Amino acid sequence: MNVLLIGSGGREHALAWALCASPSLTRLYAAPGNPGIAQLAICVDVAIDDHAGLIALCRDKMIDLVVVGPEAPLVAGLVDELQAAGVLAFGPGRAAAQLEGSKGFTKDLCREAGIPTAAYGRFSDKSAALAYLRNCAMPIVVKADGLAAGKGVTVATSYDEAAAAISACFAGTFGAAGGEVVIEDFMEGEEVSFFVLSDGKSILPFGSAQDHKRVGDGDTGPNTGGMGAYAPAPVFTPDLEAAALETIIRPAIAAMAARGMPFRGVLFAGLMLTGDGPKLIEFNCRFGDPETEVLMRLLKDDLLLLLHAAASGTLASMSARWHKGAAMTVVLAAKGYPDAPQKGGIIRNLEQAAALDGVEIFHAGTAISAGHLVASGGRVLNVTSTAPTLPEARALAYAAVDLIDFKDGFCRRDIGHRAINQD
Ligand code: AMP
Ligand code: GLY
Repeated sequence: MNVLLIGSGGREHALAWALCASPSLTRLYAAPGNPGIAQLAICVDVAIDDHAGLIALCRDKMIDLVVVGPEAPLVAGLVDELQAAGVLAFGPGRAAAQLEGSKGFTKDLCREAGIPTAAYGRFSDKSAALAYLRNCAMPIVVKADGLAAGKGVTVATSYDEAAAAISACFAGTFGAAGGEVVIEDFMEGEEVSFFVLSDGKSILPFGSAQDHKRVGDGDTGPNTGGMGAYAPAPVFTPDLEAAALETIIRPAIAAMAARGMPFRGVLFAGLMLTGDGPKLIEFNCRFGDPETEVLMRLLKDDLLLLLHAAASGTLASMSARWHKGAAMTVVLAAKGYPDAPQKGGIIRNLEQAAALDGVEIFHAGTAISAGHLVASGGRVLNVTSTAPTLPEARALAYAAVDLIDFKDGFCRRDIGHRAINQD
């Protein structure tokens, strides 16, 4: 099969790495890709929002399957357009992508399907939102309805902070994404990222991981796209996974099918493990980043065949097996991330780090400039390790990090702290 992978992050590099292991792969293309992906695929400089350009590329290269990495093209209906052009694609169409594209849509679906999640109100009017807020206990969570690149959520500890977040949404801070606001109760517990593949009917559990959203050690500082991840997450026991499948995933997939918008692709449930069992924080309609970097290192089965089965409605016959042991990824970010990452910093000694047994380095925001590998984005590299145990995976990941010369970069030093009792 000829495959076109869409995206340019660490998630897509990890997907490319796993796709390349498939005996069924003929040729891998990426649009636009990055310097790491370019070592595995033919990168074509077509932007992810250039739907016509992507469709033309599929025709030109005789693409058998498109794998869409990021959420924006899914929410924008790329998969519907590809299908209309006769191209098979992995990922939900526009209607099903509302599970990520509209928090209000998902909250209403949860209410109808009885899916455990935080109590909430949904508002398109500021004064009604503020009136609701007056009766809320603190802390409280204020969310812009639409896609806001991970910045649309405020966990507020006071009425004033929550009111300011509501005002910011309606004042246009998040553009159209903030035209509607969801206010929801604060949930206490540990967070887990749980993935399933679905072809609209069948469901195949596809791993879990824990991310580290805050920029600083000890989970301090602003939220980021994710500073590191590990799998498996010991806190997510088989019983909790079974409960999440029964109470959250199955009802959601069934409700989407009943609405005539079957979900095909990877459903990523952000879960809070509360005293009352797993509850849904949010759905995403794509793979997680950096969770995918660790999951792909542990996947034993053929990713290409699995994604093809999800896209073509034949998932019921598939299974997913995983390597024993643990994987960890540490994100190297450019100084200033997430607010104002400093671009252009030179990165050296990557080859030495990547040569360590059990280490793979996935590129995110990198570029080649004047013969040097340089930082071109906030999250720059994912230094990923596998080992028999999580403490060994952590030691190996940081040994690799310490070999890399990236003076304008930084990383968290405590990835895995929730699972490893040494901090
Ligand atoms: P989201 O973009 O919806 O994943 O929210 C970003 C982060 O905000 C989550 O990863 C949680 O850490 C936090 N968060 C969101 N909703 C809640 C909630 N209802 N209770 C507690 N924390 C939340
Ligand atoms: N790592 C969280 C996300 O991909 O949204």
